[in-house]
Amino acid sequence: MKVDVLLGLQWGDEGKGKIVDVLTPEYDMISRFQGGPNAGHTLIFNNTKHVLHTIPSGVFREDTENVIGNGVVIDPVIFKSEIANLKQADVAVEKVILISKKAHLILPTHRMLDAASEQAKGKGKIGSTLKGIGPTYMDKTGRNGLRVGDTEADNFKEQYDTLKNKHLALLSHYDFDTTALADLEKEWFAAVEEMKAIPFIDSEHHVNRARVAGKRILAEGAQGSLLDIDFGSYPFVTSSNTIAAGACTGLGIAPGNIGEVYGIFKAYCTRVGSGPFPTELFDDNGKELAEKGHEFGATTGRPRRCGWLDLPALKYATMLNGVTQLIMTKADVMSDMDTIQVCTHYKYRGKVIDYLPYDICNFEAEPIYKEISGWKADLTGVSSADQFPSQLNDYIAFIEKEVGVPVKIVSVGPDREQTIILD
Ligand code: GDP
Ligand code: IMO
Ligand code: MG
Repeated sequence: MKVDVLLGLQWGDEGKGKIVDVLTPEYDMISRFQGGPNAGHTLIFNNTKHVLHTIPSGVFREDTENVIGNGVVIDPVIFKSEIANLKQADVAVEKVILISKKAHLILPTHRMLDAASEQAKGKGKIGSTLKGIGPTYMDKTGRNGLRVGDTEADNFKEQYDTLKNKHLALLSHYDFDTTALADLEKEWFAAVEEMKAIPFIDSEHHVNRARVAGKRILAEGAQGSLLDIDFGSYPFVTSSNTIAAGACTGLGIAPGNIGEVYGIFKAYCTRVGSGPFPTELFDDNGKELAEKGHEFGATTGRPRRCGWLDLPALKYATMLNGVTQLIMTKADVMSDMDTIQVCTHYKYRGKVIDYLPYDICNFEAEPIYKEISGWKADLTGVSSADQFPSQLNDYIAFIEKEVGVPVKIVSVGPDREQTIILD
C-alpha cells in the first residue's frame, strides 16, 4: 500500500485537522511527520471543539493508530496537557498513540532561545509561535539535539545538562532572564516521565511494516507549503519541510511509496505572524473574512491576517507537493460577499508575472485580480454538491482549471458533518 499525504497549500490553518478527522475512517494509521506544538489543528464534532498540537488528528476515531514520526519535535509539557485533554474525552491514549524514538525534544531553554532570538530581531521578527521550534531543529541539524529515545538512557540527565549549558551560554549573550528555568525544568522532567506511558517505537520500521501489510496510512502535515523552510517566504517560515517530501524524511517513507497527495486550501488566504502576503486585505472585506471565519490562531490566539485567494502561490504549492486532489475549506465564510477577487498574476518590478518571485520580502508583488460573482447563499447546511449555488461551482471550476488538479472535497463549516465529497 502507498502512503497518502494531506498537507496545507497556504500559510497554515487551512483546516487540516478537520479534514484528517473526516478521512480517518478510511485509514488504519495517521502519522504526523514534521512540525511540533507550533501547530494547532481544530476538530469539531458532537458540539465539542478539540485542538491538537503534537498528536495526529485521527486520535478520536476508534481502531486508528496515531504515530508521531521522527520528523516531529515534541515539548513533553505540551504533550502532557494534550494527553490529559484526550483522557478527559475518554480516548484510550496508551493504545492509540505511538511516538518515534527519533523525534527530537523541545527543552525549556529552546523556548527561551526562541523568545530571545525574536526579541533580538525587533521589527524583523518572524512572528514565531515561541514554542521553541526553530532552536530545536537547529540543534537537530547541528547534531546536538536530544531525542525521545534518549530519555531511556541512564545518562539522560547528563545529556540534558550538556545541551542546557550550551543554551545558557547562548542565552547569556542575549542577556536573557533565565530565573524561571528551575521551575520549568521540574515541570519538564515530570512530563518526560509521564510521556513514557506512551510506547516509544522505531517508527520507520513500524510504518513500513504496516504499509507492506496493506494497512492504509495517511501522513498529516502541519503548517503550510508557504511556510516551508526551503520554499516558503524565507526567512519568514518555519524550520521544517512542510511539503510532501517532508513526509518521506519525517516518517522514513521512500518517495515511490507516496500515493495520493491531498492539498488543502482555504477559499481565501490567511497568515499569522510576519512576512509577505501579497493579497492581504486591510479593508472591510478583510475584516469580514476575519470575523466570519473566526480567524484567530489555534495555538497562540493571535488574529490571523486575511486576504483573497492567491493562485500563483497555490499553483506553486501544488507543483512542489505533486498534489493529486484539492480540498477547499471555508467557502461558507464568503457567503455574504457580492463579488470575490482572485489573484491570477502579480505586477512585480515593472513586469506582469504568474509565479511567486524569489524576493517578495524586499520588492512588492502587487496582485492582479480577476473578479468573480459571489454565491450569496448560506452553505453551512448544504448536504450534497447538487445544492451548491452555480457561482460556487464556477469558482471551483475556475480554480481547477488554473491549478490543473480536481477539487474533491469542499468543507462548508467547521463541524465534521459539514463536509461535501465531490464525485
Ligand atoms: P489547521 O491548522 O489546518 O488544522 O487549521 P486550524 O484548526 O488552525 O484552523 C482552521 C479553523 O477553521 C478551525 O477553527 C476550524 O474549526 C475551522 N474550519 C475548518 N473548516 C472550516 C470550514 O469549512 N468552514 C468554517 N467556517 N470553518 C472551518
Ligand atoms: P498549523 O499546523 C499557521 C507560523 C508562525 C510564524 C512562522 C514561524 O496549525 O497550520 P514557528 O513557531 O514555527 O517558529 O513560527 O510560522 N506558523 C504557523 N502559522 N499555522 C501553523 O500551524 C503554524 N505554525 C507556525 O505564526 O509566522
Ligand atoms: Mg492551525
